[in-house]
Amino acid sequence: AALALTANRDLLGKRVLITAGGTLEPIDPVRFIGNRSSGKQGVALAMQAKRRGAYVTLIGANISQPDQGVDEFISVATASELEGALMERLQTQDALIMAAAVSDYRVATESTTKLKKIDLGHSLKLELVANPDILASATQSITDLGLKTVVVGFAAETVEKQADLIELALKKIKAKGCDLLVANNVTGGAVFGAEKNTVVIVDQAGQIGESTGSKTTVANAILDELAIRLE
Ligand code: C5P
Repeated sequence: AALALTANRDLLGKRVLITAGGTLEPIDPVRFIGNRSSGKQGVALAMQAKRRGAYVTLIGANISQPDQGVDEFISVATASELEGALMERLQTQDALIMAAAVSDYRVATESTTKLKKIDLGHSLKLELVANPDILASATQSITDLGLKTVVVGFAAETVEKQADLIELALKKIKAKGCDLLVANNVTGGAVFGAEKNTVVIVDQAGQIGESTGSKTTVANAILDELAIRLE
């Protein structure tokens, strides 16, 4: 009983905003460009942050609201909607965890009517334009506004060797300007939708951790590093 009472509440009173899932970019009213993110790691982060005492806001991209474990749930579909929901709430957060897989590109002009093969013939060219890098711009806004928000970014990379993953993670954390970066190797489609995960965690100075296990275990390893930086 004593153990249960001393459950780790190291995020008590902290406001944590988490993005999870994957954005979908519409082509026409029935089709979209998407990715294979299931949202499970982001939801595990939300539930564990809640358990550790945080006030949790979850922005879910194309995932359903978890049965428990969040204080506020905002459902979004596209990168643009995710950016709007995030920017609206940015100034009131102690931490931002960007677990969502945000589409790098969207269709330049969404068709208001269903594209038809009979009109298009044998080939269809879609023009894509880059979406804003929400993580990079959120980090920039935090700096510009003089906020102390701790920012955690993610990276999914296809690499053969773990050393390459770490190297890419260190490059990415510099480019994004965030405080922590969590990288996983998604070679062969592992990770997506799976119950288990293996990640490396880096900060601006280098590699600081590694975690393998259930997405709950990995979530707590990430939150351990976050909690240290929130004090
Ligand atoms: O550049 P890359 O897509 O690998 O970066 C992944 C990280 O950046 C994730 O934390 C993701 O949520 C975020 N991201 C973003 N906006 C984008 C693309 C990625 O915020 N347009």
